[in-house]
Amino acid sequence: MPQIIILAAGKGTRMKSDTPKVLHTLCDKSMIHYIIGESQKITSSIDVILAHKFEDVKNKIEKTGVRIHKQNLEKHPGTGGALKEIPFIEDKILILNGDMPLITAKEIEKFFGIDADVVMSIMKLDNPHGYGRVVIEDGNVKKIVEQKDANEEELKIPYVNAGVYMFKKEVLKKYIPLLDNNNAQKEYYLTDIIEMAVKDGLKVKALEVNEEDFKGINSKKDLAEAEKIMCNRIKEKWMQNGVIMRLPDTIFIDAQSEFEGECEIESGCVIKKSKIINSKIKANSIIEEAIINKSEIGPMARIRPKSEIIDSKIGNFVEVKASKLNDVKAGHLSYLGDSEIDSGTNIGAGTITCNYDGKAKYKTKIGKNVFIGSDTQLIAPVVIEDDVIIAAGSTVNKDVPKGSLAISRAPLKIVKEFYYKFFGKK
Ligand code: UD1
Ligand code: MG
Repeated sequence: MPQIIILAAGKGTRMKSDTPKVLHTLCDKSMIHYIIGESQKITSSIDVILAHKFEDVKNKIEKTGVRIHKQNLEKHPGTGGALKEIPFIEDKILILNGDMPLITAKEIEKFFGIDADVVMSIMKLDNPHGYGRVVIEDGNVKKIVEQKDANEEELKIPYVNAGVYMFKKEVLKKYIPLLDNNNAQKEYYLTDIIEMAVKDGLKVKALEVNEEDFKGINSKKDLAEAEKIMCNRIKEKWMQNGVIMRLPDTIFIDAQSEFEGECEIESGCVIKKSKIINSKIKANSIIEEAIINKSEIGPMARIRPKSEIIDSKIGNFVEVKASKLNDVKAGHLSYLGDSEIDSGTNIGAGTITCNYDGKAKYKTKIGKNVFIGSDTQLIAPVVIEDDVIIAAGSTVNKDVPKGSLAISRAPLKIVKEFYYKFFGKK
């Protein structure tokens, strides 16, 4: 079993954010969780090195079961400094930068398939800016020069260090204590090991990797580009599983959502932390932390957290929050919050569950086969029993017993000829 060490202690200054870099998310899942997830497909011997906002990151990843370490950033800053106090346990050790969320287990495995003392990753880029440059002579890697330490010639090198390395245990044990911080950033660079190992005649091999999987995230622009790639991967996976997507470029699906059976998602939808089963989500609907089963949602509907919608039809401009709907029709312009609505019930246009009195939230319970007329306000807490009719425009502020009609309406007054008195004849 190999050991994987993930470097995630850096400040991520270029992100210009209070959030630690590795907690920034792509498709609602943090960079560090993607990397830990892929690493766990290969080994259970995983170390994560943290420092900046140590507690915040630690709390977020503790449950994954990885070993967590704190780097002494004052004493030993830099990617090499990060490894100064880490136990090297297994024979083969892979080092990953924590800011490469697009890396996959398949790519990581390639490093273990090469027979060498050191395997490093290189990419040939049109725009190598920001990366460490790899100096290659006669087809052999000589050293890595960081952007900030590179001379003009070296800056022109298109080969960059992708930031993933496989080292044999002895190599790290020997060279990590020898690293110094004699460079532009006054940091201990892990990358300096390459030059030392080459000089000592060790077998150093370069694995050419692709830019997409090894993309390092250093700025919010990088993050946005990586999120697009991740979102495409997620959508491709679900399309392969049988989900129909209309204009998938316009759809956002996060890493936590799941689909089952025959589902169709129209353009412009946003789906987060939800489970969609045999349902159709029409254009521009937003669904978050909800279960949608055998239902039709939208267009332009918003389903908010803790909602469960089964066998139902939710139409345009309907907002549902923390509600359970079973075999319900709510076609237009409604707010259904903290409610439970049972089968055969029809919610008229403009129905509002008034669930908040300014201090607390209350529940609305609506039974079977209820007909709620348009523009009804249901003042919670309130219970509407089975087989009830609520007349359009009613304000319902007390429970309605089974089989009844509830109507609250000011009498309509008709004043003949008033129009002409007011505007005159045209
Ligand atoms: C690093 C490489 C560079 C490579 C690039 C690929 C070094 C010296 N440079 O540069 O050659 O082209 O990655 O993306 O390694 N970290 C720590 N402790 C620290 C500093 C950083 O754990 O003291 C972690 C960061 O949290 C991050 C990773 O190491 O996850 C990389 O650090 P970053 O500052 O992004 O390195 P780059 O400048 O991108
Ligand atoms: Mg980086």
